Amino acid sequence: MILNVIILAAGQGKRMASKLPKVLHRLGGVTLLERVVKTAQQLSPDSIFVVYGNGGAHVREHLTHLPVKWVEQKEQLGTGHAVMQALPFCNPNAKILVLYGDVPLISVATLQQLLKTTPSNGLGLIVTHVENPTGFGRIIRNAKQEIIRIVEHRDASDEERLIQEINTGILTSTVENFKQWLPALKNSNQQHEYYLTDTIAMAVKEHCPINGVPARSHQEVAGVNNGFELAILERYYQEHHAQQLALTGVRIMDYRRLDIRCEELTIGQDTVLDVNVILEGRVKIGSHCSIGPNVILHNVTLGDHVTILANSVIEDSEIADHCEIGPFARLRPGTHLEKSAKVGNFVEIKKSLIGENSKVNHLSYIGDATLGKYVNIGAGTITCNYDGANKWPTIIGDHVFIGSNNSLVAPVTLEDYSTTGAGSTITKTVPAHELSISRAPQKNIANWQRPKKST
Ligand code: UD1
Ligand code: CA
Repeated sequence: MILNVIILAAGQGKRMASKLPKVLHRLGGVTLLERVVKTAQQLSPDSIFVVYGNGGAHVREHLTHLPVKWVEQKEQLGTGHAVMQALPFCNPNAKILVLYGDVPLISVATLQQLLKTTPSNGLGLIVTHVENPTGFGRIIRNAKQEIIRIVEHRDASDEERLIQEINTGILTSTVENFKQWLPALKNSNQQHEYYLTDTIAMAVKEHCPINGVPARSHQEVAGVNNGFELAILERYYQEHHAQQLALTGVRIMDYRRLDIRCEELTIGQDTVLDVNVILEGRVKIGSHCSIGPNVILHNVTLGDHVTILANSVIEDSEIADHCEIGPFARLRPGTHLEKSAKVGNFVEIKKSLIGENSKVNHLSYIGDATLGKYVNIGAGTITCNYDGANKWPTIIGDHVFIGSNNSLVAPVTLEDYSTTGAGSTITKTVPAHELSISRAPQKNIANWQRPKKST
């Protein structure tokens, strides 16, 4: 079977009350349109077309990386008209699957079932039952319970409006059929639109088999129309994702206080996620890790047995097995911690390598630095990496011991087994095995009189 997917995304989305086109809003960190494209890709289609209109240029610019063909619908004359815009570019022997840029959670399984169970020359659509069907197209069945047509809410009679079985909009048939049906659509309805849904009655007239497939949940076919619907769907998505993780052996302390906004995520077994963890971008967490409360990980890879304590923020970093970080640590892009390294509270690290078993435990800034193994950085140490114009490197060998409150003025090198005294400002190479101290000698003044407060 050759499959062509057509994703409709030309609607304005006025009710979002936003400058951003609707399909560029994000759910679980990924734009609505990108979610639908990714789902479509899993069906291995021949091509994916996105029908765009309002704010279309903007949508295209944001999603140039997507492997889709863009088709412009200059005027939004209805869903049938929208599909017709892509039709000339479709493979004449293909089956078409119509999806929507604002129905982000449709599952691959439901779509596969739709494609599998629809006869090759037939028409298949996904239907569902809802409590309140206001606004939706109603499914009209005959006495034999066969679908015979769809009537839009605005065009429906009072009696038809009582029907709770609705059209989700997702449907499939052949290019050949659509080439026949779509040009024959009329816009003689309340909205003066060319309704894709009118093709069902046409198909019935031609004795074309109609296949109604029920959705697995109403969330998977839920469209986003306004900001609150998006917020509700976001919560559903988060809970659903948490459930999937929990079932693979990830321990989640509170599934309502975990937010996943990832393009890619893997988490190993027996890793614990405490409350208010936020995972963003591409995140890979090994097994037996412990992620403390209020931790944010953005594009981060963690090995196994890593402990991250409360309130730490880690971005574009790689952390090897058995490292310990935080509480209140900030690791900025380009941080690489090798095995069993330790970063403590109120430490900021940027673009630096911390070697195996090295420790930066308290109140330090380490930037553009390379640390060897078994290094100990004293509290309050700063790498002075920036001269106001350029950034300079700090090189620290193995087994180096830096006293508290040091300023390491880059570029500077501290060789293996070197030591610095507390309070030193290091501006030159510290040779291997030597001690370097640079601080004013202590003066004691006897019988010192403290100044008195003037009256
Ligand atoms: C449509 C269905 C309705 C179904 C409902 C489910 C039709 C006529 N009606 O109604 O049976 O119950 O979806 O949500 O199909 N779009 C375009 N170009 C257009 C018009 C629409 O790209 O000219 C896109 C919109 O961006 C939107 C989607 O198609 O994503 C649905 O359009 P909309 O006008 O919202 O249809 P509904 O009235 O919701
Ligand atoms: Ca809609």
